[in-house]
Amino acid sequence: MNQSVKYYFALARSKESQYQNILRDLKYFLKSLGVNDTIITLEDEYDLSAEETLKLDTFFSSYLAGIPLDYILNKSEFMGYKFYVDSRALIPRPETELIVEWVLDLSLNKNATIFEAGTGSGCIAISICLKNKDLKILASDLSGQALEVAQINRELHNAFNVTFIQSNWLACSIENSLDLVISNPPYIKPNDPHLKDLNHEPFIALITENGSQSFFQIASQAIYSLKPGGKIIFEHGHSQAAEVSNILKDCGFKNIVTCKDFQGLDRYTHANK
Ligand SMILES: C[S@@+](CC[C@H](N)C(=O)[O-])C[C@H]1O[C@@H](n2cnc3c(N)ncnc32)[C@H](O)[C@@H]1O
Repeated sequence: MNQSVKYYFALARSKESQYQNILRDLKYFLKSLGVNDTIITLEDEYDLSAEETLKLDTFFSSYLAGIPLDYILNKSEFMGYKFYVDSRALIPRPETELIVEWVLDLSLNKNATIFEAGTGSGCIAISICLKNKDLKILASDLSGQALEVAQINRELHNAFNVTFIQSNWLACSIENSLDLVISNPPYIKPNDPHLKDLNHEPFIALITENGSQSFFQIASQAIYSLKPGGKIIFEHGHSQAAEVSNILKDCGFKNIVTCKDFQGLDRYTHANK
């Protein structure tokens, strides 16, 4: 049976106490279906087509099952670009844009060899190469499924200066070959209580032993693969600055600097070989 816009607003209101953003997200979803702004604002009786009704029913069942909006829409925004996402890869986070901006501010020349370890949807590598078309990036992931999503995004944006490779972090790179290593690796401990709110995203993108094993693995490989003076940048959890800095120091890095995110929390750390 075809339903009206009004029907779905009533349904959302009945769930409002359980789902904080359900009304906002319903409006966004209706807009993405091409429903006119006035109809949405008036929560009109407007009858939806059979196809739209089916999409709205699917939206509600997915939403109520806790599936993140970006996965429902298969769309995420990062650095002003639209990325395809599904449950094979992590949803890009706004704070990750800071490491893209840091890389762009380096004003690297077109011959720089740049490696992203753990690319997921490809959002970091692709955004850097879209913002600076001279750069080329090699980006790895261990997950073949994440790389399938990254390939979709590469084609979506014609970002053919990004090359993806299935590899255990930087294992595929050779000694003294890289100018820059970028990584937003998994940094949650396997027993972290917050994981229950993230159970639709791939665990390989979230969890690492002790919450820090991934930093150690990447830093150990990077000290070998970077050229002397080459740089590394890590995104990390806001309470991990000291731990990540110590890992970098123990692996032989110098000039270690931590920077804060929009909320004033320690969010990324960079260093030199
Ligand atoms: C936190 S996600 C980051 C994804 C993306 N770069 C972003 O910022 O949205 C970490 C990524 O590391 C990948 N990963 C986990 N272990 C890995 C390993 N040993 N080697 C390469 N990639 C790995 C995961 O599959 C995941 O895509």
